[in-house]
Parts: sequence; structure tokens; C-alpha cells
Amino acid sequence: MNRKYRKTVIAGNWKMNKTPSETKDFMNQFKSIMPKGRWCDIALCVPAVCIPAAVRAVRDTRVGIGAENCNANASGAYTGEIATNMLVDAGCKYVIIGHSERRAMGETDADVNAKVLAALEAGLTPIMCCGESLEQRQADVTSEWIAMQIKLGLQGVPEEKIRKVIIAYEPIWAIGTGLTATPEQAQEVCESIRAVVRKLYTSKHARAISILYGGSMNEKNAFDLLAQPDIDGGLIGGASLVPEKFVQIIEAANQPTV
Ligand code: PGA
Repeated sequence: MNRKYRKTVIAGNWKMNKTPSETKDFMNQFKSIMPKGRWCDIALCVPAVCIPAAVRAVRDTRVGIGAENCNANASGAYTGEIATNMLVDAGCKYVIIGHSERRAMGETDADVNAKVLAALEAGLTPIMCCGESLEQRQADVTSEWIAMQIKLGLQGVPEEKIRKVIIAYEPIWAIGTGLTATPEQAQEVCESIRAVVRKLYTSKHARAISILYGGSMNEKNAFDLLAQPDIDGGLIGGASLVPEKFVQIIEAANQPTV
């Protein structure tokens, strides 16, 4: 992390977990133990039906609520989908875009790009995910693959909006598996992502963008991952479902900037 140039962000991704009532319980517990310090931004991305309960619960705090997906269209005949302006009106600040679990359901880089543009247009902070499979890592094509996902995902994002985008590097082989990338592996890819942003924009923009690591980040490994110079936070699945664990990860982000 480097707080001189960019924000540290600890974001939870609940995936398809918790009901609205469970959301209320989580938030009450979380608020009672939430660190007071302001060393990082805190986001919780929750299932769509939990957004109202989450937003209500964090009204008096600095926690930002996010969605886990959005549709790129403004409105219309898209049964079951949710537009970015609906998320904004419901009180969301963030939206996860292009998570590997959604890409596995058919979401393409073009879809991701359209959603990133729609999120920015609506004033949401997109958390754009990228990540390689185990086969790709073993074939030594990780950096090329990630560079392609970043370039395609950011197409048409103007210079003045790039700082608003958060990128999350989530190696697919590390998600929900208990297999975490080593701090060095994660740093190497996050550094390469910043280099891609530098090429697409300027070094000033690359320096200002927050790049998160995700994939079995937990209260035990968070400190070492967050100590890396190009890892500006975490996108946390499993460990964000337990208030104590999520709080410990937030506390792990309270370290001197490198
Ligand atoms: P995990 O999920 O922390 O449970 O591995 C991370 C994610 O998929 O965002």
C-alpha cells in the first residue's frame, strides 16, 4: 500500500450469502467492533436484496455499501437485471464488476467494459476484477492475460475518470480455495497491472489508482499481503462474512506506508 498517493480499500464480497435479516445482525455486530481509525476506506458488497438493510444500518458510519453486479443498460426489457441508477438510488457507492464467478457464467470483457462505463456514468465506484486460472499461471501467460483483461475492461474510460476505478486482482485458483497467492506473487501481478495503467494513461494516474488483492485473504495473511507496495487493499469473500475476521483485516491495513 502507499497512502501517500492512493486510497487503501478493504472491501467485502458477500457473494450469495446472508438474508436481509442476517445483514442487519452482521451490521450491528460489525458496527460495535469497527475500528475508529481512518487508515482505509471500508466497503461491503452485498446481495441486491440486502442493499436496503445494509445501507440503513451503516447510515451513521463511513462504511460504503456496494452491489455485486449491475447491468450496463439504463433501463428496459432486461428481466431480473439491475441498472446502475437503481443502485445509486438505493444508496450504493460501489459495484463489483467482472468477478470470475460471473465471467464463468458468460460475462465477457466487452460486458465488463460496458458495465464499468455505466457505473462511472452513474457515479458509482467500479471494483473491476481480473485474474488468471491455474492453467494460465502454469503456462506462464498470467501477465499477458491480465494486461488484456485490464485493457479491454478500461476501454473508453477517460483520463479524468480513471482514478475512480478500483482494480481487484483475484487469481481464480485462490478464490474460496484457501490457497492464497504469496505476497510476492500478488505483488508481482499488482505491479504489472499498475504498469498497464501507466501505459494506457500516465504515471500520475497509475500512481493514484487503488489495486486490491482477492483470493482467500483472511485475518492471518492480510498483513503481509497489504505490506506489499502495489497492493492497496483487499477484496474479501469468506472472511468478510464474519464481523471479527473482517475487522481484523481492516486492522491489518493499519501499517506504515512503504
Ligand atoms: P474469498 O473470495 O476471499 O472467499 O477467496 C474472494 C472473492 O471472490 O472476491
